[in-house]
Amino acid sequence: MALPRPVVLGNWKMNGLRADGLALAGALAERAANLSGTLGIFPPATLVGEVARRVAGSPVIVGGQDCHEKPSGAFTGSVSAAMLADIGAGAAIVGHSERRHGLCEDDALVKAKAEAALAAGLLTVLCIGETEEEYLAGRQIEILERQLAGSLPGSGNADRLVVAYEPVWAIGTGRTPTIGEIGRTHAELARMVAAKVAGDPVALLYGGSVKPDNAADIMGIDHVDGVLVGGASLDAGGFWNIYTAGGGV
Ligand code: 13P
Repeated sequence: MALPRPVVLGNWKMNGLRADGLALAGALAERAANLSGTLGIFPPATLVGEVARRVAGSPVIVGGQDCHEKPSGAFTGSVSAAMLADIGAGAAIVGHSERRHGLCEDDALVKAKAEAALAAGLLTVLCIGETEEEYLAGRQIEILERQLAGSLPGSGNADRLVVAYEPVWAIGTGRTPTIGEIGRTHAELARMVAAKVAGDPVALLYGGSVKPDNAADIMGIDHVDGVLVGGASLDAGGFWNIYTAGGGV
């Protein structure tokens, strides 16, 4: 069964000490007693367990922002997908551009992480997206096709896998592609993902400077099934407004 739409996910990145993170999660869980769509939050690894306990009983999904590709071993500082699942996570992001570019993660590593997350039973959010240079050269479809070919896990399906298109140049900048550009890119993305993943359509998210005031326009675009939100997910009211702007109740 495909994930209920809209699929609205909040990536807290490296933000949130215990008090703030638990307050934010609690405020969200209060609003989200019942959901027509899918709502998820991705706190820093230090808070995943406590946040999962804080929202327990609500349909809010809690996930990790990354996972190691191996289940255990001598990998100092890393967290495995099984460890995330063990503390109550239901999801993991893999391939975020801040890791692809900041930490030199390549497609093969991202694919291994995605497969590890799926093997641990986690909803797996695979991020892809072009750099500004690639965007200006009109190469976004070619780049997305290459990233999908290299990092899409072999075993994903519509209830376990989400693909998030996040143009690197739109993350944290206040700039977004135009509605027409997102529409064209997502139509291509839908075609490319459908050719690789059988069954129900995988949810395709847009990410990069999504705010309460542009969320409805972005989620109104064909083949945009939801959004992956960074900065604006750190405010419970604003994040909830993004979810409802996508038609979620
Ligand atoms: P911003 O919403 O802050 O641009 O971040 C997007 C993002 O990277 C979500 O993963």
